[in-house]
Amino acid sequence: MTLSPEQRVNELRKAINEHNYAYYVLDEPSVPDAEYDRLLRELQALEQEHPELISSDSPTQRVGAKVETSFEKVEHLRPMLSLDNVFNDDELNAFSKRVNERLVTSDPVAYVCEPKLDGSAVSLIYEEGKLVKAATRGDGRVGEDITANVRTIKNVPLTLRGDFPKLVEVRGEVFMPKQSFEEHNALARESGEKVFANPRNAAAGSLRQKDPSISAKRNLSIYVYSLGLAEGIELANSHYQRLLQIKEWGLPICPEIKCVNGINETLKYYHSILDKRNDLPYEIDGVVYKVDSIDAQEKLGFVARAPRWAIAHKFPAQEEITTLEKVEFQVGRTGAITPVARLTPVFVGGVTVSNATLHNMDEIKRLDVHQGDTVIIRRAGDVIPQVVSVVLERRPENASSVEMPTHCPVCDSPVEREADQAIYRCTGGLFCSAQRKESVKHFASRKAMDIDGLGDKLVEQLSEAEVIKSLADLYRLTQEQLESMERMGEKSASNLIAAIEKSKSTTFGKFIYALGIREVGEVTAQTLANELKTIEQLTQATEEQLLELSDIGPVVAHHIVSFFDNDENVKIIEDLIELGVHWPAIVEKSADEMPLKGKTIVLTGTFETMSRNVAKEKLVELGAKVSGSVSSKTSVVYAGPGAGSKLKKAQDLNIPVEDEEALLKVIS
Ligand code: IVH
Repeated sequence: MTLSPEQRVNELRKAINEHNYAYYVLDEPSVPDAEYDRLLRELQALEQEHPELISSDSPTQRVGAKVETSFEKVEHLRPMLSLDNVFNDDELNAFSKRVNERLVTSDPVAYVCEPKLDGSAVSLIYEEGKLVKAATRGDGRVGEDITANVRTIKNVPLTLRGDFPKLVEVRGEVFMPKQSFEEHNALARESGEKVFANPRNAAAGSLRQKDPSISAKRNLSIYVYSLGLAEGIELANSHYQRLLQIKEWGLPICPEIKCVNGINETLKYYHSILDKRNDLPYEIDGVVYKVDSIDAQEKLGFVARAPRWAIAHKFPAQEEITTLEKVEFQVGRTGAITPVARLTPVFVGGVTVSNATLHNMDEIKRLDVHQGDTVIIRRAGDVIPQVVSVVLERRPENASSVEMPTHCPVCDSPVEREADQAIYRCTGGLFCSAQRKESVKHFASRKAMDIDGLGDKLVEQLSEAEVIKSLADLYRLTQEQLESMERMGEKSASNLIAAIEKSKSTTFGKFIYALGIREVGEVTAQTLANELKTIEQLTQATEEQLLELSDIGPVVAHHIVSFFDNDENVKIIEDLIELGVHWPAIVEKSADEMPLKGKTIVLTGTFETMSRNVAKEKLVELGAKVSGSVSSKTSVVYAGPGAGSKLKKAQDLNIPVEDEEALLKVIS
């Protein structure tokens, strides 16, 4: 039996919607991406051939043709409330006491615990299972119509599934995942576009785009956290059961939601989520506890704009206000000069912060930051603290603008700006003690020469005392010199001497990486080692020769050649070798020994039987290139438990993903 185009279109839509449900709501993809793409393309082709079959709820119609977001006023069916906050255990206990008193019970109350997502609240209305309206919270009573933008959010179903009510309104939070936020800002900083202060502003700003095709590119996501209204269906007397029901209809619910008994359990939840906070792919600013029983919720009712049956338990703030006392300039390993904000110390994101990066002069211009300004600082997770914005109203009269120095603050060599770039550099090279210090730190680091026990502080002492003036001086250090350094005992000095001695035996790839040539990371260093094989070949390579190697572009080729054009650098290499640094010769391996040649591999998550570093070394020995990020050039991703964004990206790009067992097979 052949299907009519209409029947096939319906069949395809149904299949695609079910795959979307499996992927976005259950987080258990039901088909490979390739199969999904085929279904979608078939549907697109049929709809193109039979335009009369197109309907607005078709999965092909997320970004509707030329529909602008109207922002018309929408009166909410029921007001969208807000939440009261507590910041500590005492306040939380007071909340719990009030709940028990009002419910006239001394038994532990069942609470639903949910992350408090840091995005923008929205209301979604489905009629007969079709998304008909999406609105912002607005003032809680009246919001704005943002339907066209919300339709572009991939995990918002355009049609519901299963046994859904005739009319239903759900509420939830639209957010921008951390990774998308960081990527957006990095690109925006480069191209001079608008940088978002935090993921919350990013979500709100993206929902406020007039053109939905822009919102579509912002990679927003939603988790639904409550039911506003449902007509024509029996509902459970439990908030948690209702969430499960909402999920059955195809709406995504945050996977961290949990039902617990009594307020002590909510505290445990608070700490478990706080521990996980940095690893969650989205930003949260606390957790929310809601009395589970709907009857009890009704008994408790509301005060002003907030329910008595729910409370937000806030995490330590990630943004704070403080004074930017002055801007200083730091010189990095490659001479890049970075402006750093010196702040009046402030407690933010769980630590006291007294410095924040300002990236570069363009960023200073963008922020219009002056010394003496009151600024907002953000410290999220392990990311370096950032200056988010300036509170202009509080600018003191004596605030002074920030100027890039014309000479290096450390060595006084002239500072140059690179053509077309925001970066300024000290031209002092290894004459500059700051660059020297940073290159020694890099040289000794784990992935380079791996000198155990040579910490940053010690490198600074040794450089300042002028004991180390070049990389080669490291191998001339004596026990006596080390012992004369602050907080250096006889034992630690002799341990360090032994570690330095041990580091002499290295690999060519690590040695090249350790030299700290601009833009030459571990992977490029390994390529250079594999393909050029000897230090002579490397130092004499021309830009043309380098460009022929895999993955070496004109910029890197140029940096490599100019590094070896510098006689001082060549002398340091000669000295290092003379002092005993050596590596096994790179012998031409047969094709049999290099079965992974030409393959680019990404490792993610944790493996049980070996560390990622060990796995990486073995793969490299077999000829593979092991890269830190997934792209269309990745051949395969090996993922262990705990894999996150890289795994997701691989799935999005349709790149084969294998487990530890497969990795072990390849390695052995
Ligand atoms: S419930 C009647 N649950 O927090 C309760 N809100 O301060 C209304 N939010 O406007 C909200 N995650 O934007 C609820 N799991 C969650 C939430 C959540 C984030 C936001 C929401 C709301 C604001 C209230």
